[in-house]
Amino acid sequence: MRFSLIKASLLSVALSTGAAGAATHQVTVSADLSQQGPVINKDIYGQFAEHLGRGIYEGLWVGPDSSIPNTKGFRNDVIEALKAMEVPLVRWPGGCFADEYHWRDGIGPKDERPVKVNTHWGGVEETNAVGTHEFFDLAELLGAEVYINGNLGSGTVREMAEWMEYMTSDKNSTLANQRRANGREKPWDIKYFGIGNESWGCGGHMEPDYYTDLYRQYATFLKTPPGKKPLLVGSGGHTEDTQWTDVLSKNIERDMDGISYHFYTLPNDEWETKGHATKFDEKMWFATLERTYRMDEYLKNNIAILDKNDPEGELGFYVDEWGTWYDAEEGREPGFLYQQNTLRDAVVAAVNLNLFHAYAKRVHMTNIAQMVNVLQAMILTDGPEMLKTPTYHIYDMYSVFQDATSIPLTLEAPDYAMGDKAVPAVTGSLAKGKDGRTYLALVNLDPNNSASIKLDVSGGLDKTLKGEILTAEKMTAKNTFDDKDAVTPKAFKTTADDFTLPAKSIVVVALN
Ligand code: AHR
Repeated sequence: MRFSLIKASLLSVALSTGAAGAATHQVTVSADLSQQGPVINKDIYGQFAEHLGRGIYEGLWVGPDSSIPNTKGFRNDVIEALKAMEVPLVRWPGGCFADEYHWRDGIGPKDERPVKVNTHWGGVEETNAVGTHEFFDLAELLGAEVYINGNLGSGTVREMAEWMEYMTSDKNSTLANQRRANGREKPWDIKYFGIGNESWGCGGHMEPDYYTDLYRQYATFLKTPPGKKPLLVGSGGHTEDTQWTDVLSKNIERDMDGISYHFYTLPNDEWETKGHATKFDEKMWFATLERTYRMDEYLKNNIAILDKNDPEGELGFYVDEWGTWYDAEEGREPGFLYQQNTLRDAVVAAVNLNLFHAYAKRVHMTNIAQMVNVLQAMILTDGPEMLKTPTYHIYDMYSVFQDATSIPLTLEAPDYAMGDKAVPAVTGSLAKGKDGRTYLALVNLDPNNSASIKLDVSGGLDKTLKGEILTAEKMTAKNTFDDKDAVTPKAFKTTADDFTLPAKSIVVVALN
C-alpha cells in the first residue's frame, strides 16, 4: 500500500535576530510517530553508470591486468566505498549511449569485441571491454540489483528480444547456451528494463504518440521465463514537460510498470553557460537551490496526471536521471562531463532525496547522474587515487531511509529568498527505519542563518538525539586529492529541546 502523507507546509515566519545581528530561523517539526506513510523504496537511492567519459573505464573498470587492485577488473577501492553506502540499484549502459549500444558487441572474448566510436561522449573509442557479463559482475560485487536500458533508437525489436532471452532464459536455447559458453550458467535477474532513453531527444527525436506505438511493439516481444519479467520502463519526459507522462499513461495500457523522467539542475538555467562547479557566490548558490527545488512542482504536476490516468496507482514515476550539471572543467574533454562536487551538491542531494521521500507513493525509483567521475558523482578518481564527494556522504547518511516507512511530517519553516524567488529555508524527512529506529533528516538551505528546531513530536522521543552532520565553513568547500576529508560527516549530538541546525548543513539524527 502506498500513500503520500508527508507534508511540508511552508509558512513565512520572521527570523529572530540576536544582539550581534546573527539571525536564526524558527522551524517547527510536527509529527505523530505512531502514524505511517508510504515505504521509501530503496531504489530511490539508485545509481547510474553510463559509458561516458571516465565513469566506467578508469572510474570503475581498470581491467584484471591493472596495477590498481581489482576484482574481475573492477577497482577494489571504489567497490568498497560504494558498498559501504549501500547502492541498491545501478542503471546501465546509458543514457544516450543506450540507444547506440548493440549488446552483441559486448560479449565473448575481449580481443574479438569490436571497437566502436562513442559518438555521444567525446568521440572516443569504445572497446566494449565492459559488456553484459562484466556489468552483472559489477552489480554482484556491489550487492546491487540491475536496471538495464535497451536500445530502441537504433536497434531492432529482434535485437532487444534476443538480449532479454540471452540474459534470462533457463532453456537449452542457442542464446542461453551462448551465455553459458561465455561463463554464466544461471540466468540473471533484471529488476528494471528501459525501452529506450530520452526518446524525445538523443533516443530518436520522436513524438510521444509515435513512441507509444513503438513501445507497445517492443514490449510485446520481451519474453522471459515465468516470474522473471523485469519492471518495464517507458521513456518519458523531462524538466517542466508533462506531455510524455500524459500520452504514455493514457496510451500504453499493458506491459509498462513505470515512466521515466529526467531533470538536471543547471545553476544558470541554460545549457550554454550552466555555471561553475566550484567558483560561485551566494547568488549562484541560491539559483542552484531554487532551480533544484523545482523538482517539487515537476513531480507534483506529473503525479497529478498519473493520478488522473492511473487512479489505481499501478505506474511508478521513475526519476532515472537527475542531479547537478555544470560547465565542463577547464582543460578537460568537455564530452566527459567531469565536474567537482561541493557542499552545494550535498545540499542539492538532500533536498531532492527529501522530495522523493515526500512523493514515495509514486516515486519508486530514481538514479542520480552519475556514480563515478561524471556529473554529480559519488566518487572521483585520479589514477590509483579516489575520493568520496560531499554527495557520497549524503547518500551514506541517508541510507537509513532505504526501505524505511515514512512518517507524516509537517515542517513549518520560513523562506530563504532572493529577489522575487524563494525556497523553504529548511526541508526534511521522517521515517521508521528497517532497524526499528525513527530517523529525522533536516537540511538548512540558507548559507548564512542557522535554524532553531522545535520538535513537536508525539510518540516517544529520546532526550538526547544522536546522529551525523555534514557542513563546512565555506559554501564552496570540496574534497580534493590533497585533502580528501575536507567535507566529511561529523558526529552530531543535541538535546531534543535545544536543537540548532547550523547554516548550510545537513543533519540525520535518530529520534528514538
Ligand atoms: O547523464 C548524461 C546524459 O544526460 C544522458 O546520457 C542522457 O540521457 C541525458 O541527456
